Amino acid sequence: MTFTIEPIKPTKAQSGVDFGAMINDLDLEKLSDHDFEILRDAVYTYQVVVIRNQSHLQPKTQYEITKRFEPEVDTYGHGGQHRAQQSVIARDLSPLPDVPQVQLLGHGLIKNYQGVEERQLTHPHHKVFHQTVMPKEDEEAGKTRFYRWHMDAALYKLNPPKVTSLFGFKNPEPRRQTVVYDDGTDDTLDVQLGTTAFISGQHAFEILPQDLKELAFRTKVKYAPHPYLWMSKARSRSTGLGMVSEGKELSEEELPPIEEEAIKIYPMLWKNPVTNKIHLQVHPAAVQDLIIDGKSMGDLEKVRELLYKFQRPSINPENVYAHEWNDGDLVIFHNRGVLHSVVGSLKDTDVRIFQQCNMASAEPPIPVTEEDFAPYRVATSKA
Ligand SMILES: [Fe+2]
Repeated sequence: MTFTIEPIKPTKAQSGVDFGAMINDLDLEKLSDHDFEILRDAVYTYQVVVIRNQSHLQPKTQYEITKRFEPEVDTYGHGGQHRAQQSVIARDLSPLPDVPQVQLLGHGLIKNYQGVEERQLTHPHHKVFHQTVMPKEDEEAGKTRFYRWHMDAALYKLNPPKVTSLFGFKNPEPRRQTVVYDDGTDDTLDVQLGTTAFISGQHAFEILPQDLKELAFRTKVKYAPHPYLWMSKARSRSTGLGMVSEGKELSEEELPPIEEEAIKIYPMLWKNPVTNKIHLQVHPAAVQDLIIDGKSMGDLEKVRELLYKFQRPSINPENVYAHEWNDGDLVIFHNRGVLHSVVGSLKDTDVRIFQQCNMASAEPPIPVTEEDFAPYRVATSKA
């Protein structure tokens, strides 16, 4: 039996959302090889695929499906690096005892869940990561922020996972909240409490002006060694899109020993393996340097300013798909093709139970060649 893939119908306000699809008639516990092939292509084509009604899904099945995208490897996307206590991701994840490749995350006191006797979970709140904190009254009035725009990746030693699966087992009541950007613009976004926000790296590339498209093609991104420790004292912009430069990054002496060959340098543009389309794909918070035409910029503040110019348009409200979770949704997203962010301010009484799974990839991202980029050059000469 085949299933139906329905592209997400964007609302008027989502004029820049050209990705995302829903599947309502598939049971992931009974996924055939043929089904998987279709699902795999759908993930690379639509970037974010929501499979509804999977409340019965076993963690082992989530792991096995995620692993089919990356059959060669068995290492969690962050390896063991996320466990270092000061790491900015350590606090948000913990492995399930029976299927440690699957991470439990969420909010509230969780009891007797998938081998976990009892655990207090906390939904990441911008106050622990942003440089500025929203006034209490605003939060009480239902305002919130994007927590951190990112792809799931260690960005040191290990290659970024190709896909991530995110299983929404239990959600809090679907109150509405308003994301405020607080960056000198009046930008806001109406969302459901606890949404996960996505933007397309392909759209991010398409909307760049010609000069930035060309610059992106000539630029490589150098990630900091031990990036999540390196940034652990620094603070984020109010949009959650990259860091504020206050000189708070850890120095080499403060970090564990650095292996030069483990440092990750990737092109700024990555090619989609199914559509061959070009994606602007950068994890802004972890970037230490940009290398343009082989020359390092070498000034972190300028690097971040330039990156923000590249990436800020991509998170404009009209470009964001904020998924409205139902209990039992399994979302598989192309982690090398989109950025995503946790969103929302949950109360102590709210409960959210999620499971996340991804694998570090055996292969680096696919670079964009001169040939791939040629149509964008032609566009200029004709103009
Ligand atoms: Fe994530």
